[in-house]
Amino acid sequence: MAGLCLLSALGVGCGKKDNGGVGPEPASNEWKVGAYLSLSGAETQFGKDTQEGTELAVEEINAKGGVKGKKVRILFEDDKSNPQEASNKVLQLINRDKVVALLGEVASSRSKAAGIVANKNKIPMISPSSTNPDVTKVGPFVFRVCFTDDVQGQMGARFVKNKLNKNKIALLYASDDLYSSGLANEFKNEAKKLGMTIVAEKSFLKNETNFTTYLNEIKSAEPEAIYAPVYYNAMVPVARQAKAAGIPGNMFVGGDGWHSDSLVNDAGEEMEGAYFTNHFSPDMPSPSSQAFVKRYVEKYKREPSALAAQGYDSAMLLFDAMGRAKGDTPEAIRDAIAETKDFPGATGSITINAERNAEKPIVIVQIKGKKFTYFDTVSAK
Ligand code: PHE
Repeated sequence: MAGLCLLSALGVGCGKKDNGGVGPEPASNEWKVGAYLSLSGAETQFGKDTQEGTELAVEEINAKGGVKGKKVRILFEDDKSNPQEASNKVLQLINRDKVVALLGEVASSRSKAAGIVANKNKIPMISPSSTNPDVTKVGPFVFRVCFTDDVQGQMGARFVKNKLNKNKIALLYASDDLYSSGLANEFKNEAKKLGMTIVAEKSFLKNETNFTTYLNEIKSAEPEAIYAPVYYNAMVPVARQAKAAGIPGNMFVGGDGWHSDSLVNDAGEEMEGAYFTNHFSPDMPSPSSQAFVKRYVEKYKREPSALAAQGYDSAMLLFDAMGRAKGDTPEAIRDAIAETKDFPGATGSITINAERNAEKPIVIVQIKGKKFTYFDTVSAK
């Protein structure tokens, strides 16, 4: 029987190679890309949404014949929403599976931890959605396709001041989370520059579930807006307990970490009227976004989240770089990613700058009638 498979010795391959990473080493007639995501644990929704967008991208590229005539296979690994596990999975993808590039993660704390491993092993990594500035600072092999929190915090503060005309601000964030504390700080710095006043600053630990005391203290400081850059899984109880404490949803302003269907499904009513800065909204007007939404809805029968769009963009931008790269090595792919200019993504046009971050506009989304609704697009320049 083995004799029937002679071509594989020539690297041409035979038979079905898409065996999910089990069994014999697949032939080198495919690109292996590793993706590590929170497919279980506290932020499961982040991982699942990103995986869906990534899978759509792979399907599309392979339908077009792959990259340089070779199909792409993505090996997904679950990091269980844990930074240590993220590092372990990345090491495994590099050493055991010999991937040429990596996609992941969403949460900045996990991208930073695993990015250190990718960089040390000289395998290029693209984070779809990690916004904390530290993530890409780990070294030359780590990139992202999203804006950074210095920009996001700045734009958030300007929006509250100039569009909402609110000046007295309370801050609420998770002090032990890289993303949350970092974004709160960026917002605070810009707010001070703009002459706004921080009337209350309350932080909690990620494992806390009762926020009533903080909310009551915030309420008595009489803010005009509450900036709460926390993940959706914390924002749901915060919003519910705020309503019980007599704080209306439209006092809240947040960042991209709010974005998950759970937020509108579980606390949509409590958050009516709230605004947040984000990467994407399925009703944003750009043609490349609308084309993506159409294909996504065809495949999954529902609208894509920002995370799905970012997952899609991280994969498509990587495939584009692999196609342009002067060789098939991780180093050559790294160099091609670094040269990306005006890539037409589902989330907008993406240019990778010298710091390996994406330069792109920010979308403002409002929660209306338990739905995420596109409000505006703002640009730092
Ligand atoms: N920006 C967040 C972080 O860096 C992750 C995130 C992105 C969450 C988009 C939700 C939506 O940790």
